[in-house]
Amino acid sequence: MGLLSNLSLTLLVFLFSVSVISSEDCTNRRIYIRKLPAQFNGDLLHRQTLTNPFLSPNSLFPHLSFNGIGPKTHKRTHSWYRTDHHLIEPFFHRRLLEYPCLVSDHKSADAIFLPYYVGLDSLRFLYASEDGDVDVNGHGLDLFQFLINDSPEIWKRRGGADHFLVTGRSSWDFSRSPLNKEEWGTTFLESPEFFNVTLLTPEARRWPWQEQAIPYLTSFHPASLIRFQNWITRAHHSNRSTLMLFAGSGRGSGGGASGSGGDKINIRRSIYEECDSQPELCTLIDCSNAKCSDEPIRFIHPMLHSTFCLHPPGDTPTRRGVFDGMIAGCIPVFFDEMTAKKQYTWHLGGDDDYEDFSVFIPKEDILFGGQQIADILGKITEESVGRMRESVLKLVPTIFYRRHGASPELKANRDAFDLAVDGVLKKILFKPSMDI
Ligand SMILES: *[C@@H]1O[C@H](CO)[C@@H](O)[C@H](O)[C@H]1NC(C)=O
Ligand SMILES: *[C@@H]1O[C@H](CO)[C@@H](O)[C@H](O)[C@H]1NC(C)=O
Repeated sequence: MGLLSNLSLTLLVFLFSVSVISSEDCTNRRIYIRKLPAQFNGDLLHRQTLTNPFLSPNSLFPHLSFNGIGPKTHKRTHSWYRTDHHLIEPFFHRRLLEYPCLVSDHKSADAIFLPYYVGLDSLRFLYASEDGDVDVNGHGLDLFQFLINDSPEIWKRRGGADHFLVTGRSSWDFSRSPLNKEEWGTTFLESPEFFNVTLLTPEARRWPWQEQAIPYLTSFHPASLIRFQNWITRAHHSNRSTLMLFAGSGRGSGGGASGSGGDKINIRRSIYEECDSQPELCTLIDCSNAKCSDEPIRFIHPMLHSTFCLHPPGDTPTRRGVFDGMIAGCIPVFFDEMTAKKQYTWHLGGDDDYEDFSVFIPKEDILFGGQQIADILGKITEESVGRMRESVLKLVPTIFYRRHGASPELKANRDAFDLAVDGVLKKILFKPSMDI
């Protein structure tokens, strides 16, 4: 009897989960994953992890890199990984394989996913030697040839307007004009061949029409809902003894080692000066040489103990640290609207939502107005700080990336990946009407 009821319970649970999947409403949500030769994804991962100094050593484990999250930080953790955010390309691909509305026939799809690891492929163009045989204006053209020659009807349906792909690199890395061969970047986004395709990226340009920014891939990938909630509780109760924190890639850009960065007026330099003179109010974390993505504990622990995390723009306006900090319940302080407000509209809400969970200090106020960041932050009431921290923690479910194979309870939460897919489907569906 006991066995029987156990058995029927198992069966019930099984039937229930099957019916949940099949009753999922897939209207306008069907995705077809375009089949690409390995030269456009798997091979790139192999080749780059063996030869490329710009990826961290964790990607030397191909079986882990396919999942994109890297190895665990230590054996006993169930939530923390040495994640290189560039590897969102294979990560997203892997997550999409679990997507409930995948279709095997492209004709019934609302959108087509291109599992092309565009950022990994860009390296051979970005770091091409001058006398090499790489056509520096050729990024993506071999893919395009494949797309219009192999099952050409898939591309022809909408001239690529229903295709999307994801990258771990900034759009700036792909938006050089073909005429300016000396400048940084590949020509991928400037090639008419790809004008119609949607790119999901951690950093969009100011007036993007091809791309949309989605959160950086962080190191936090809890396996179950309870582990997720435990972390949020910990961040909620954490003793925040430091007013503010800055985790940055060293003082290099102020020291002249990186060329042009040496003499420009620099908000980062102001932050270093302030933190040096008031170490009791400010924690500095040195993240140079990939020290932080290899060892997230270096910054997550201090972020748990800081009230505010400073996010000045650097070489580019956005930073992975925005998302690391929020996961630790550290209230973000922005100095430039391009750091988040003009980027993550699908995940962090509209302009009006920002004052609920973040502080904005125009960088000019610090650079030219003679104001101290600590003075401004110190004047915010404890009550407001508490409210803001609650709002930050409420956003964590929508900005972290669940890893593949998470528990069903955790899957019920819509994470950064789910919101990105919702957004891209909407963008693709409404594209034609926008063109009119
Ligand atoms: C992009 O879409 C436009 C408008 O539908 C179409 O004319 C053009 O051929 C498409 N581009 C490519 C490369 O297919
Ligand atoms: C929080 O930190 C302060 C200062 O470091 C310390 O005095 C206090 O006892 C701590 N509180 C808790 C609950 O740990």
